[in-house]
Amino acid sequence: MTNQKILFSGIQPTGEIHLGNYLGALKNWVDLQNKYSCYYSIVDLHAITIDYEPKNYQEKILDTAMDLLAIGLNPKKSVLFVQSRVPEHTELCWLFNTLIPIAELERMTQFKDKSQEHKKNINAGLFDYPVLQAADILLYHGQVVPVGEDQLQHLELANKIVRKFNNKFGEYFKEVEPVISSGARIMSLADPAKKMSKSLGPAHYISINDTPDVIKKKVMKAVTDTGEAKEMSPGVKNLLRLLELLTDSKTFQKYQKVYDNKSIRYSDLKTELADAIIKHLKPIQEKKKELMKDKNKVQKILDTGAKKARRVAQKNIVEIKKRMGLM
Ligand code: TYM
Repeated sequence: MTNQKILFSGIQPTGEIHLGNYLGALKNWVDLQNKYSCYYSIVDLHAITIDYEPKNYQEKILDTAMDLLAIGLNPKKSVLFVQSRVPEHTELCWLFNTLIPIAELERMTQFKDKSQEHKKNINAGLFDYPVLQAADILLYHGQVVPVGEDQLQHLELANKIVRKFNNKFGEYFKEVEPVISSGARIMSLADPAKKMSKSLGPAHYISINDTPDVIKKKVMKAVTDTGEAKEMSPGVKNLLRLLELLTDSKTFQKYQKVYDNKSIRYSDLKTELADAIIKHLKPIQEKKKELMKDKNKVQKILDTGAKKARRVAQKNIVEIKKRMGLM
């Protein structure tokens, strides 16, 4: 147990978890619980870098926790906690801020994209977002980090911080290793040139809490093509990828084959896919309903998680500060 590598990953409590989050990262979170010593954080401090509603924020955080437990995170195996309950994250973020040139942060594509999206609220926290992310992981000496493809640049930045720190203060942190799944880049249903994301609007994503009716409607409306394109269009590619990830290989191969011999009917593909999504999400949605009946229990899980995480964080931050000459 003690020799196990440390895994760290996080998700923002920005509302509903969608199939991109689930297939890109969270499914891996569940699978990797038996292999590593895992810390999973609901990163509430990251999510306030864009506009949010303070009044229902605690509810959103609790809802995200219930979604994660419903998907299969097991608090007996993993530490599940809310980021702001462990103040050492922000402390380490500040320490790392003194190591990373702002030019590195200016290169971050997520910062550029979000600045475009939220022109009226380009705050310093949004700019510093990847440094807090590096602090999240390295506070626990996390090495294994399951994420979607969009996070790779942030993990490269974390490794720059590792190298800077080790150069300046002596070998201490190990570089982080991303774990990328085959669902690492799920695209929007309505605009398959963009990655699936809540900020694009409900037609673009499927939430893990969507009802069967809503799932059917969204999938049936998904963008495909007229069947005349020489290469597979991004929309069809995305639907086939989703089918591959959510159904058995025989069904997937059947659709791949009819696509290859040009006899595919996209309405059949969509019906098959909608059914596969509904079937896959059913047990998750049932578990969520159960959890909603006992929110106190979920709150307790988060309290215990924060305590466990903080114990490790407090120990490690002392060591880091000593190395930096602060103690
Ligand atoms: P967040 O909440 O935006 O996303 C959570 C996870 O979902 C993945 N993801 C996707 N994967 C495939 N296709 C998509 N369309 C898609 N959309 C989202 C993201 O890559 C992510 O893995 N910055 C992180 C949160 C974070 C974090 C950390 C992660 C904060 N600290 C430390 C790892 C380690 C984020 O994007 O969360």
